[in-house]
Amino acid sequence: MASLTVRKLDEALKAQLRLRAARHGRSVEDEVRTILREATHEGAPQVRRQEHQRAPEIKSMPTLSSVASSTGFKVTLIIGGGIAAYKALDLIRRLKERDVHVRCVLTRGAQQFVTALSASALAHEHVYTDLFDPKSEFDAGHIRLARDCDMIVVAPATADLMAKMAHGHADDLATAILLASNRPVLLAPAMNPLMWNNPSTRRNLAQLKTDGILVIGPNAGEMAEANEAGIGRMAEPIEIANAAMEILRPAPVGPLVGKRILITAGPTHEPIDPVRYIANRSSGKQGFAIAASAAAAGANVTLVSGPVGLNDPPGVRVIRVEAARDMLRQVEDALPADIAIFAAAVADWRVAREGDQKIKKTSSGMPPLQLVENPDILATISKLKQKRPPLVIGFAAETEHLIDNAMSKLLRKGCDWIVANDVSPSGGVMGGDRNTVHLLMKGKSGGETKIESWPAMMKDDVASALVDRIAREISAAEST
Ligand SMILES: Cc1cc2nc3c(=O)[nH]c(=O)nc-3n(C[C@H](O)[C@H](O)[C@H](O)COP(=O)(O)O)c2cc1C
Repeated sequence: MASLTVRKLDEALKAQLRLRAARHGRSVEDEVRTILREATHEGAPQVRRQEHQRAPEIKSMPTLSSVASSTGFKVTLIIGGGIAAYKALDLIRRLKERDVHVRCVLTRGAQQFVTALSASALAHEHVYTDLFDPKSEFDAGHIRLARDCDMIVVAPATADLMAKMAHGHADDLATAILLASNRPVLLAPAMNPLMWNNPSTRRNLAQLKTDGILVIGPNAGEMAEANEAGIGRMAEPIEIANAAMEILRPAPVGPLVGKRILITAGPTHEPIDPVRYIANRSSGKQGFAIAASAAAAGANVTLVSGPVGLNDPPGVRVIRVEAARDMLRQVEDALPADIAIFAAAVADWRVAREGDQKIKKTSSGMPPLQLVENPDILATISKLKQKRPPLVIGFAAETEHLIDNAMSKLLRKGCDWIVANDVSPSGGVMGGDRNTVHLLMKGKSGGETKIESWPAMMKDDVASALVDRIAREISAAEST
């Protein structure tokens, strides 16, 4: 069967694919598969069943040919012989969470600290340990391990491995792969502070950096050895995984590259006591869809979300909060931004005094529930003297007099645009997948407010249309 390399497609097609993939919360490769499946009228359940049936066969084949069914990026992870090797097992999980196919190589030293069995169980893949293994070397497997990947991560990178790399050794599988590779290499050194500061390690590090090797960490902190602390702890698996993703992900493309967008989404939960809260029916779907679309358009997106059951959109920094006051704090911390979109359904009120303990049901009647007003996030940010984003967009969820109420909100809050939507229960907008919106745009320097009424659409499509509208506005403003 013919193979298809997404990265070889032209930029415009890749941007469209990324947008679709982000909207559906899939990797680009999965999106391509879905499109192909749809085109050939194959049902998703059938395909899923086929993948499931194939899994045992893949596991039972310890040759390099078993890696052909990778979904996302491919990383060769070399685990060195240090105490931090146990953290490399967590790194495998962190990479896999990011849809990365991980192939592990354990040095002889590493096998003293972790087993190949643990690494292969986590990676769902055969683990390689031996340069002279006839099973994997029948076709010069070390060369394939070096090249049939998008990058190599060495974690932990021991002083010994760094020395060998700096001097071009290739007397075991790990060093042979590193010498034979033309892929980016990321080292996560981990060693005792004295080893790290030793002049020979410093020389080797300098040489490796000159050779274009990328390095993350080590961090400062306590060592495994009793009473020892200093610089030498391996960077945390999540830091290494994020650094790897930055190297793997192609530079963003799209009309919002270089723009910082701050978005809020979801409801807020206002505590009454430790177990009860005031909430609303917002699902967060519209705000999450906008965040995904903005990220797919190349923006640097921060999403501050109330409690919702949605996964983080790809490529978006997500900050989860509970109450309105936490949301405001996180929004203020996330400034400056070029554009702020406040799609969250922030509770207008909270209880004046939150109970420290669960309020008991007593015979003396119902407890009084006095409410006080919550901070108005949209108005607060719209009226900032410094750090006000140049474009502030609010949402108006109304159940009657939609346009009139949205128009007065636009003037009252001091924002630039309002996206008005009718959230009457009969429309099924709250929690549903469709939305019908009107976009109110305040005229420049006292000019007339423009109103665009969009047809009923999926929330994903409302998000794309809004992001497209923002991109046009920015491009018009920048060209004047
Ligand atoms: C208990 C123990 C812990 C070790 N921890 C480290 C370490 O954290 N970093 C390091 O560079 N070497 C450490 N070493 C030394 C390496 O294991 C040794 O240099 C080994 O040859 C490294 O092999 P490799 O880098 O090829 O896996 C440790 C050795 C022992 C016995």
